[in-house]
Amino acid sequence: MTFKIFNIAIVGAGRVGTLLTKFLSDVLGHRIVAVISRSDDSLNRFTKKFKVDIASKSLSDLPSNVEVIFITTPDSVVKDVADKIASLENLHFKNLTVYHVSGVLTSDVLLSLHSLGAEIGSLHPVYSVSHFDYSVDELKKIKFTLEGSKRIYDITKWLFYNFNENIFHIEKSQKILYHIACVFASNYLVSLLNAVDEVFKKANLNFDHKFLLPLIDVSLKNANELGAVNALTGPIERGDFETVRLHLDELKDKFPEILPLYSSLAIETIRIAFKKKSISANLASQMLNLVSSYIGKK
Ligand SMILES: NC(=O)c1ccc[n+]([C@@H]2O[C@H](COP(=O)([O-])OP(=O)(O)OC[C@H]3O[C@@H](n4cnc5c(N)ncnc54)[C@H](OP(=O)(O)O)[C@@H]3O)[C@@H](O)[C@H]2O)c1
Repeated sequence: MTFKIFNIAIVGAGRVGTLLTKFLSDVLGHRIVAVISRSDDSLNRFTKKFKVDIASKSLSDLPSNVEVIFITTPDSVVKDVADKIASLENLHFKNLTVYHVSGVLTSDVLLSLHSLGAEIGSLHPVYSVSHFDYSVDELKKIKFTLEGSKRIYDITKWLFYNFNENIFHIEKSQKILYHIACVFASNYLVSLLNAVDEVFKKANLNFDHKFLLPLIDVSLKNANELGAVNALTGPIERGDFETVRLHLDELKDKFPEILPLYSSLAIETIRIAFKKKSISANLASQMLNLVSSYIGKK
């Protein structure tokens, strides 16, 4: 496979649009011919970072030499943007590849473009993109999942060139559950760290979750080495019924807002402890009854 420089346009100069542009231009060496976004602020931030021929608020400014378009807008407008691109008369759709980067949407939202001859794909960066500055070394490690039209896999291999091993094939039917797994791994993990911060604060302890990094690290290490089920420790796994009751009473009394989160996780942890055969069916059911009796109570 010979290396080809693609002419690429980015629609949506937000966090993922910026991260992808840095990967596509600085790591892979492709040419960014246009960026389209809604606001001047985003376009200015983008053009300060990257050399680009066209920066505009109008999709009709997409140039006819564009070969690949990345739609990096919020999920809710991807289809609308795709349909608008499909109505542009200057584009050569048979030589065009269009991706969106949503974790949950499939490439079907780009079908208006496929019907004109464009290849389409959903190419999801498996990463949490919360700011605008990522190092090249960090970008090189990002995994992507891909599904789409028949030729999209070959085109993407060409586009990614020597980073092909970062691309993982996914089926349309798998996307929603796949995205739920990503949400657990990233967003809900962050919510849990926030809960740690808030519980420390409630106890008037001058700690935050960074104090627990050794505990967090060893839990991750154990889960990686032993598998998540075997890595489980703690009061539920030990069958310490009274400790769980103490926790629930304390939260009910001092921090009822966090009781639903604790209870949901306790229910799930009881299921895992039973699966691990650490607690009997009888104890699991007593613990479930205990936790359930606190849900909804203030
Ligand atoms: N953030 C993550 O961690 C992450 C990870 C993987 C995948 N994704 C996916 O990446 C996509 C973008 O998410 P994001 O986090 O990068 O969002 P974001 O930072 O809010 O960026 C979205 C950008 O789209 C622009 N935009 C909105 N409507 C537009 C329109 N009609 N035409 C042109 N541009 C428009 C916005 O423009 P202005 O700023 O100019 O108003 C904004 O810059 C989503 O599909 C999301 O599911 C996100």
